[in-house]
Amino acid sequence: MTGGAGFIGANLLHYWARERPEDELLTLDALTYAGHRSSLVDLERAGKLRFVRGNVSDPGVVRRTLRGADLVIHLAAESHVDRSIEDPAPFLTTNVLGSLTVLEAARQLDVGRTHLVSTDEVYGSLPLGRPKLRFGPGTPYAPRNPYSASKAAADHLARSYHATYGLAVTISNCGNNYGPYQHPEKLVPLAITRLLAGLRVPVYGDGRNVRDWIYVEDHCRALDAIARRGKAGETYLLGAEEERSNLEVVRTLLATMGRKGKSMGQAIELVPDRQGHDRRYAIDPRRSMSALRWRPQVRFEEGIARTVRWYLDHRSWWEPLLARPRRAPRRRAR
Ligand SMILES: NC(=O)c1ccc[n+]([C@@H]2O[C@H](COP(=O)([O-])OP(=O)(O)OC[C@H]3O[C@@H](n4cnc5c(N)ncnc54)[C@H](O)[C@@H]3O)[C@@H](O)[C@H]2O)c1
Repeated sequence: MTGGAGFIGANLLHYWARERPEDELLTLDALTYAGHRSSLVDLERAGKLRFVRGNVSDPGVVRRTLRGADLVIHLAAESHVDRSIEDPAPFLTTNVLGSLTVLEAARQLDVGRTHLVSTDEVYGSLPLGRPKLRFGPGTPYAPRNPYSASKAAADHLARSYHATYGLAVTISNCGNNYGPYQHPEKLVPLAITRLLAGLRVPVYGDGRNVRDWIYVEDHCRALDAIARRGKAGETYLLGAEEERSNLEVVRTLLATMGRKGKSMGQAIELVPDRQGHDRRYAIDPRRSMSALRWRPQVRFEEGIARTVRWYLDHRSWWEPLLARPRRAPRRRAR
């Protein structure tokens, strides 16, 4: 797995070590600001994971790391939309060139299966007030920010490697994840850590932008199902059918954290909108559910309760991250 020290990667490695103990795990990660080796320390100490520090855009390192792998799950990416608006170049280097490097190494080494973890953002923006409109298998790509454009490019490259070279590739496009080990620059942990500090949560524009939320462990289960039952050349749309506006997310967090009495005005601060802010993402996951025999198991309120508990219990993981200097403003959601 590339990007194993990031949010989804760390959850996936813990999931895999627990559910597939017979597999040997190795991760390649550059440890950017978003990578935390501390998320993996228990797995490394228990001898369940080998960690290689290196860049996915470096063909030599990638080839050496992938040699002998039966399955590659490519997660390493620059993942924060606001950073991509501020400075797009690293997104092109890591997300496009890095994905190309991984695909090319997989082709040269004849890896049995390569899976690209992608996002629903490649499909662009849906309007509010049209609940029946959702992203489905035939939805055309229409990315609208440098992050989603770079992820779309990687998806196209992966498909081209399947069509041109017959590489056994699968792709998944998933909605907004939340759960343990997520960097506090993203909405859910940002809100939890700010509320714990007695600070207001900055929310973009009118707060009505909608995302389709999935508990990270349900995403991990889907990736496992794709590795086992996915068909080469296929794309799987993954979501838990849990659409929430940013205001609703913060409201649920307030209720979960026992701050119901707090008015929304006391809890949030509406800030000027993100440039080109996509209004709504919504995924129709039914085809993936039946093809993969997979179902999300954690409802939104339950997942939020688990997440809040985790952040309360793991202050030593996230507190040092608040002190680190940032390139981009800190108030933004994905
Ligand atoms: N978080 C979400 O809600 C979400 C939703 C759908 C898809 N995705 C995709 O899932 C993947 C993982 O997302 P995440 O939220 O865990 O991201 P993250 O930002 O938390 O982690 C990214 C990881 O990749 C590593 N990395 C970055 N650049 C690298 C490079 N050049 N070489 C090697 N490693 C590098 C970082 O050190 C970090 O460990 C990404 O591809 C992202 O686009 C994320």
